Amino acid sequence: MPVTPADLAVWKQRRERFVMLTAYDALTARVLDEAGIPLLLVGDSVGNNVLGYETTIPVTMEEALVFTAAVTRGVGNALVVADLPFGAYQASTGQAVANAARLVKAGANAVKLEGGRRSAKAVRRMTQAGIPVMGHLGYTPQSANAFGRKVVRGRGQEGDELVADALALQEAGAFAIVLEAIPAELGTRVTEALEVATIGIGAGPGTDAQVMVITDLLGLTPDPTPRFVKRYADLRAIVTEAAGRFAKDVAEGHYPGPEHQYH
Ligand code: KIV
Repeated sequence: MPVTPADLAVWKQRRERFVMLTAYDALTARVLDEAGIPLLLVGDSVGNNVLGYETTIPVTMEEALVFTAAVTRGVGNALVVADLPFGAYQASTGQAVANAARLVKAGANAVKLEGGRRSAKAVRRMTQAGIPVMGHLGYTPQSANAFGRKVVRGRGQEGDELVADALALQEAGAFAIVLEAIPAELGTRVTEALEVATIGIGAGPGTDAQVMVITDLLGLTPDPTPRFVKRYADLRAIVTEAAGRFAKDVAEGHYPGPEHQYH
């Protein structure tokens, strides 16, 4: 059955932990959907993971639309959440609603945007327009230029600010909130303060769900990776070995063999 935003609140109430993974193409989305992953995020991390940008900041709406449409074409049941890229929602609530609607027309079931109280008005307008919205607090990569080298957010007094931001997003209608790179204790505190689900990435074990970037999980991302990354496969080694074997087979005349030829 297709996953809906309302399912997340039910899972939270039942204390059933769940996951979200990023996806950027139809093929991978299909595999993840068939593996039963309930939430797929077409993250603006497509910028550093697929498009070769240094950060997520250069990602455009046009790029977000292409990757969102690709992912939705591969999905049967998973809820597809699309990131609003930097510059696509900050200018006005009107701009935010218009760009969120473009992502929904491309096939997204929900959109995600960064920021707490500063984004709450846009979240309210989008939810009023019938667009489910996921928030994103803590380390918000679109603010990399402002944050500098300080990655972990929410230490000390910043923690109270982050709780206030989370409550503002919930009040504005967000159905879930991503918490990135914050102290584990704060991840638990925010999760307990909210009725909507929290989805952690480097926010400790106390959040309702966990999200990981697919290239990190599969071991494709080069070192160093952030502390919260756990590799569940070493695709980099597998791809390197397979490509090398192919080249060797061709060089030594073992490929193509008789079974690979047309007559
Ligand atoms: O774009 C992305 O991959 C994200 C995750 C880190 C949550 O926003």
